[in-house]
Amino acid sequence: MISGLGDGPLACMQRGKQVPYAEVGTRKKTFAEVQTERLNQAERTVLIKCPSKLNQKKLLQYLASHGNIKSHFFFENRGISALVEFSEKSSIASLQDAVGIPSASEHHVVPFKSRLFTFTLKNPVSQHVEDTPLHLSPQCHIPVKDLIEKLCLADSISTQMYILLNEYQLTEENIKLRFLACSLVRDFARAYFPDSTVKPFGSSVNTFGKLGSDVDMFLDFCDTGKHATKMKKGPFEMEYQMKRLPSERLATQRILSVIGDCLDNFGPGCVNVQKILNARCPLVKFSHQPTGFQCDLSVSNSIATRSSELLYIYGCLDSRVRALVFTVRCWARVHGLTNSAPGTWITNFSLTMMVMFFLQRRSPPIIPTLDQLKELADEKDKHIIGGYDCSFVSDLRKIKPTKNTETLDVLLGEFFEYFGNFDFRKNSLNLRKGKEVNKPESSPLYIWNPFEQDLNISKNVNQPQLEKFIAMARESAWILQKEDKTQQMINKEPWGLAALLIPFGKNNSSKMKNRMKGIGSETIRSLLDSLKLNNASSQQKAVGK
Ligand code: GTP
Ligand code: MG
Repeated sequence: MISGLGDGPLACMQRGKQVPYAEVGTRKKTFAEVQTERLNQAERTVLIKCPSKLNQKKLLQYLASHGNIKSHFFFENRGISALVEFSEKSSIASLQDAVGIPSASEHHVVPFKSRLFTFTLKNPVSQHVEDTPLHLSPQCHIPVKDLIEKLCLADSISTQMYILLNEYQLTEENIKLRFLACSLVRDFARAYFPDSTVKPFGSSVNTFGKLGSDVDMFLDFCDTGKHATKMKKGPFEMEYQMKRLPSERLATQRILSVIGDCLDNFGPGCVNVQKILNARCPLVKFSHQPTGFQCDLSVSNSIATRSSELLYIYGCLDSRVRALVFTVRCWARVHGLTNSAPGTWITNFSLTMMVMFFLQRRSPPIIPTLDQLKELADEKDKHIIGGYDCSFVSDLRKIKPTKNTETLDVLLGEFFEYFGNFDFRKNSLNLRKGKEVNKPESSPLYIWNPFEQDLNISKNVNQPQLEKFIAMARESAWILQKEDKTQQMINKEPWGLAALLIPFGKNNSSKMKNRMKGIGSETIRSLLDSLKLNNASSQQKAVGK
C-alpha cells in the first residue's frame, strides 16, 4: 500500500516527479518571471538528433567545446534526440559556424541556420560498456489502464488523485521542449517581423498542462508596440509599421497567412501546416516533428494570456486545485465528455473553470474570486484590454492562504454532487463574483468569460452534452457514496478514483476485476517498488531545488 502524504503543498511537491513551478527563495515566482526565464532558457537551447547507438560522452564533449552546457536530457521522438541548454547564447553561433551544411547535390536546400542538428558519430563497439546507460525522459503519460492499476494500490482517494497528477502533469523536460518549440517558430517569424516573439499560452503555462497536450502559442508584437509609442514623440513615422488595414482581424489573417506559408515552405520539421483563418480566433495548426508537438499558432491575444495567468495563480495557491482539475479532466475524457476535436462538448478550458468555480463556492472558499484578486492588485498589475478591466494581483504572497481543510476525498465527491444537482436551466457560473447568477441568455451551459463579461466561454455546449455531463456526475457521486472500499480492495476490485475511470454501463468492472486478479503478487510488489522509488527520487529533487 502506498501511504498518503497528506494534502499539504510540501507533500504535493514531494509527490511530484518534478517541481516545474519553482520558487524564488521562499516565494513562488510570478507568471511573468516564469515566462521570461523560460523564454531566455529556450533561446540558449538546441535540439540534436542522435544515432540509435549513441556515444553520449563524445556528444557532450563536442558540444562543450562550444561553451558550457547548463542542462541536457535525452528523449525518444522518431529516434533519440537531445535537448541541450548552453549557458551562453553565443555557443549556438559557434556550433552553427562549425557544422557542415547538407550539399545541394542531394537536396535542394533553402539556406537557413537552424538550431536543429544531427549528431552522426556512433558509439564504437569497444566503448559500449564505458558509456553510462542512456536515460530517456518520458514525453507522454502512461495509458489509463496502467494508471488504474497504480491507483488501486493507493490507500485513499486523495493519494489516488496525487498519483494521477504525478503521472499526467508536465515535467520540467517537457516544459523546456514546449518553450523550445515556440522559440524555433520565433526564429522563422523574425524573418518577416524582426521584433516579434512567440510565446506559449494555455495549458503549457497555466499549471494544468498534461503530457501530450497541444502547444498553444501566439506571435507577440508587444515590443514593437512599445517602440511605436516612443516613436510618436519624434517627427518620423516608420513606414513598415504603418501599412493600414481596415480591421485588426484582417491584419491578423494576413500575418498568419505569411507565417503559415513560411513554416510550410521552409520550417524544418513543420508538417501538416493548416491555415484556419476564418475561425473566430484565426490560427495556423501544424505538427512540429523535431519536438513531437501539435502546435496552434495565433496572433497576440492579451485576454488569453490573462486567462493563463489567472489559472496559473489558482494552480499555485493550493495543492488541491491541480489535483482536482487533473482528476476531473481525466474523468471527463474517459467518459467521452471532452474530445480533442472542436464540437458541442465541454472543452477542457470550460471544465477547468467549472472546477475553479466549485472551489470558490466551498465554505470557507479554497480560492478567491476574481474580484477579490482585483482588489489586491497594485499599479503594475493594471491591465485594461479592449475596454475590459483585466487587472488582478500577480504577487502570490499577497493572497491569504485558505482556512479550508477539506480532503480531496471529500472535494471529489462534492464536486460531482454539486454539478449533478446544479440548476443549469436557471443559473450561470460567474467566477468574477464567485456566485451563481441568473443566466443572461438561453445557452444550456453558461460560464461567464472572466474578462470579457458579455461572453459565454461554453457557448458551444449543447443540451445533450450537458445532460450527459450531469448524468455522469450523478453516477460518479453515487459510486463514491455507495462503495465499500475495504471490501473492494479485498476483492481486488477497482475502487475510488479507479472505479470512476472505467466507462460506466459496459460492465467493465468485472473485466477490470479479472485484470486486477491477473496481476501476480510479484507484479504488485514491483509496481509498489517503482512507486516508492519515484517518490524517493522526487523527494530528493524537491529538496535539491
Ligand atoms: P488543453 O490544450 O486541453 O490541455 O487545455 P488548454 O487550456 O490549452 O485549452 P485549448 O488548447 O483549447 O485553448 C488554449 C487557451 O485558449 C485556453 O487556455 C484559453 O486561455 C483559451 N481558450 C480556449 N477556449 C476558449 C474559449 O472558449 N473562450 C475563451 N475566452 N478562451 C478560450
Ligand atoms: Mg491547449
